Amino acid sequence: MTDSAQLDERVGIGLLGCGTMGSEIALAVVNRSVKNARIVAVFDEDAAQAARLADTLDPTPIACRTVAEMLAVQDISLVVECAAPAAVAAHGETVLAAGRSLFTLSSGAFTDTALLDRMTTLAARNGCDIVVPSGALGGIDALRSVRDQLDEVTLTSTKPPRAFSGAPGFAKWEELQITEPTVLYEGPARDAVPLFPANVNVAATLSIAGIGPERTIVKVVADPASPGNVHEIHASGAFGEFTFRLINQPHVRNPRTSHLAVLSAIETLRAYCERGPRIGT
Ligand SMILES: NC(=O)c1ccc[n+]([C@@H]2O[C@H](COP(=O)([O-])OP(=O)(O)OC[C@H]3O[C@@H](n4cnc5c(N)ncnc54)[C@H](O)[C@@H]3O)[C@@H](O)[C@H]2O)c1
Repeated sequence: MTDSAQLDERVGIGLLGCGTMGSEIALAVVNRSVKNARIVAVFDEDAAQAARLADTLDPTPIACRTVAEMLAVQDISLVVECAAPAAVAAHGETVLAAGRSLFTLSSGAFTDTALLDRMTTLAARNGCDIVVPSGALGGIDALRSVRDQLDEVTLTSTKPPRAFSGAPGFAKWEELQITEPTVLYEGPARDAVPLFPANVNVAATLSIAGIGPERTIVKVVADPASPGNVHEIHASGAFGEFTFRLINQPHVRNPRTSHLAVLSAIETLRAYCERGPRIGT
């Protein structure tokens, strides 16, 4: 087989969002931790960010100015979104309508269940996939397995205060010194996402795997003594009950993003592109 024929067989990726996650995923593809994939084009609303990432990659992908420009590149079959829930709301349907599959980290967008329904219909019609990695959480496989038997699902997410900086739900605490565990929000997952869009994608992932964003109850806590980004899931119902507690170290480049989320994204992408055995999914 010639080199060009081999290239054609790899999954062509358009990267939407070139920050912490996007850069790590691109690196994993380039250094072949994710085989059978290649980064064909990148886009970020911050054009300099896209250009910067493109320059560090070999082979150099096309740095696109718009999502439409990226979707015009024929070689792309998968858009990997690592931007923000607003980017999924703005571009998710366009991606699927263009016949491209969507791999998304910003699951917070799917607390808008009408959006998720429309995207699911579009994906089925166009033979595309929507892939949501478990990200900073574990136990999603168990939750999905029992989703018809669940009575209650709660998530408590505790992070150091600096991880919430810039979030609308943190505005009133921004100038205050938080010295003890402080509950920033408690209520349905649906209402947590607009308040903490970069922090509670985990709540959305949990919701769509389980009993939905209205019935999944989320508590968001800022704690200066938190040993990391801590997520505790409790679920109960006719099946029994379980508790998962994850103490995630934040990524060195972004305290809002757990290192596990990056590793989960890379592993899920690897499994998707390589089509090998699927264990525990
Ligand atoms: N599911 C999970 O467990 C999980 C965990 C961590 C992060 N995330 C999510 O993954 C996404 C990426 O995280 P990150 O750590 O790389 O963030 P980051 O802030 O380091 O990078 C985000 C990048 O996306 C760009 N961007 C933002 N909005 C955009 C838009 N509408 N269109 C195009 N580009 C846009 C920014 O300019 C930035 O370069 C975020 O939505 C984050 O909340 C999910």
